[in-house]
Amino acid sequence: MTQNPTPIHEIVREHYAAQARSGSSCCGDTSSCCDSKNALYPVELLNNLPDDVASFSLGCGNPFVQAELKPGETVLDLGSGGGLDCFLAAKQVGESGRVIGVDMTPDMLERARLAASRLGFRNVEFRQGYLESLPVEAASVDVVISNCVINLSPDKPQVFREVFRTLRPGGRVAVSDIVTNGPLPEALQKDMEAWGACVAGALDVSEYTTGLSKAGFTDVKVQPKGDASELIEAAGLKGKIFSAAITARKPA
Ligand SMILES: C[S@@+](CC[C@H](N)C(=O)[O-])C[C@H]1O[C@@H](n2cnc3c(N)ncnc32)[C@H](O)[C@@H]1O
Repeated sequence: MTQNPTPIHEIVREHYAAQARSGSSCCGDTSSCCDSKNALYPVELLNNLPDDVASFSLGCGNPFVQAELKPGETVLDLGSGGGLDCFLAAKQVGESGRVIGVDMTPDMLERARLAASRLGFRNVEFRQGYLESLPVEAASVDVVISNCVINLSPDKPQVFREVFRTLRPGGRVAVSDIVTNGPLPEALQKDMEAWGACVAGALDVSEYTTGLSKAGFTDVKVQPKGDASELIEAAGLKGKIFSAAITARKPA
């Protein structure tokens, strides 16, 4: 299936194109979906990466805790942004492994590809595409990771089906994302700026679990990790929106 971009894709793309160009390492002035690099990753993980790459993180968690990557594995990163998580994955799977980052925003891909070539990563490639129509062969991936991206999709059930398709039997999902505890106020759900900032599109924990199960996954776990940011608190949404660690497995 080829994905035709929806108005949400266009708004989200503009939002992240601006960030790729400005080099700002947060989702935006009104953002909630990211934190400083040191809050997301232990310093040892970022060793040997230059500051401009290590600090360009737009994520909301550390998917590597759950991913437990092994040498030789093939990893797919959904919404790879500036490429940081792909580079961290590449170090873990080693030369015998492979990492594919997919992103729909050309400015992000350019940033990630320039960094990959500057740093000499030969086992990482970045492909332009949509989460809803992944440019990746069926049953070719061992682990799907993603950091603060699935909430941005206007069609999450389709993303879950695509993740299922690309994973090998027995393959696993290790995702950090923003989730909610119950529905958000309707006005907020329709606020496109809040969508770009990883708030408005966030799924309820039970919808996330059901969505992955319906796509065919087993061992689905959505574990809230903490409030997404002080901005959430400021907006009176404390206790309503969280970052979460999400894991699932495609049956063997
Ligand atoms: C919040 S940023 C996260 C980037 C990266 N994962 C990180 O941790 O720094 C979201 C990224 O996902 C991409 N993105 C959002 N929705 C997408 C979609 N439906 N298909 C493909 N890429 C998408 C954006 O272009 C952006 O680069």
